[in-house]
Amino acid sequence: MTSRSVFITGAAAGIGRHTALTFARKGYSIGAYDIDEAGLATLADEVKAVGAQILTGHLDVTDADEFSARLDEFAASHGGRLDVLINNAGILLAGAFEEIPLAAQHKQIDINIKGVTNGCHSAYRHLKATPGSVVVNIASASAIYGQAELASYSATKFYVRGLTEALDIEWGPQGIRVVAMWPLFVQTAMTANVSTGTTNSLGIKLGPQDVADAILAAVEESKVDKLIHRVHYAVGNQTRAMSLGSRFSPAWLTRVVNKKLAEPH
Ligand SMILES: NC(=O)c1ccc[n+]([C@@H]2O[C@H](COP(=O)([O-])OP(=O)(O)OC[C@H]3O[C@@H](n4cnc5c(N)ncnc54)[C@H](O)[C@@H]3O)[C@@H](O)[C@H]2O)c1
Repeated sequence: MTSRSVFITGAAAGIGRHTALTFARKGYSIGAYDIDEAGLATLADEVKAVGAQILTGHLDVTDADEFSARLDEFAASHGGRLDVLINNAGILLAGAFEEIPLAAQHKQIDINIKGVTNGCHSAYRHLKATPGSVVVNIASASAIYGQAELASYSATKFYVRGLTEALDIEWGPQGIRVVAMWPLFVQTAMTANVSTGTTNSLGIKLGPQDVADAILAAVEESKVDKLIHRVHYAVGNQTRAMSLGSRFSPAWLTRVVNKKLAEPH
């Protein structure tokens, strides 16, 4: 058991909620934040039922001031410590790029890109003050190759990938680990009504608990991961195969495979 603290965005549902409960069962002190306060209230009951501490609060990750205030409050209530920040909140828009209204695409960019940027920027001083601190950014298998019918969503996850790689190098010497999780499609509200070429060809096989377990394993890194300084964590066999394949196949072949997977089924 641990007395470490974890701050999770988008914690009211899906992957964030399962992650909060998984860390609670390991004895972490939970900070659960979301725009869905009713969801946070039921989560708080479940976390307390497993005997862990929890703070909850409204947080729209696109609001940098609110993000900073919530992080400051959480760190202050843990003696200035912030052991783990999980930038999980995100939305997904599926469909033909030109048919998705621009305002909706801008909102997706605000949440998936600016939200993660706000989190990392506001959390820095707390992370730096905490030995062994970790940032977990939720990327996606859609950051392996641009995904048809998920064009701007997939592009936001390329940003998350790039930010993670860069901050890992910048912040590593300051004692802050920065890692990215790469799940393929997960059975949550996010994918409930999504039907694209790739969801149909690859299926939606992961559950939110699979991702939560992988996040915990990434935070509590194995000796091997420590030795190889692992930054990216593929979740599930499909993502592992795809990311390995894309690393060793020529660019033209990766494109052909992605085009094939995206065809209507
Ligand atoms: N579900 C998938 O297939 C899948 C696959 C790969 C990666 N991911 C990523 O995992 C993360 C979580 O996805 P999920 O499947 O659990 O989604 P979900 O829709 O089940 O839950 C997302 C949570 O984020 C919250 N949220 C939305 N906008 C917010 C905002 N502006 N500020 C704060 N909270 C906000 C929602 O209220 C909700 O509680 C996302 O970053 C997503 O891109 C999901």
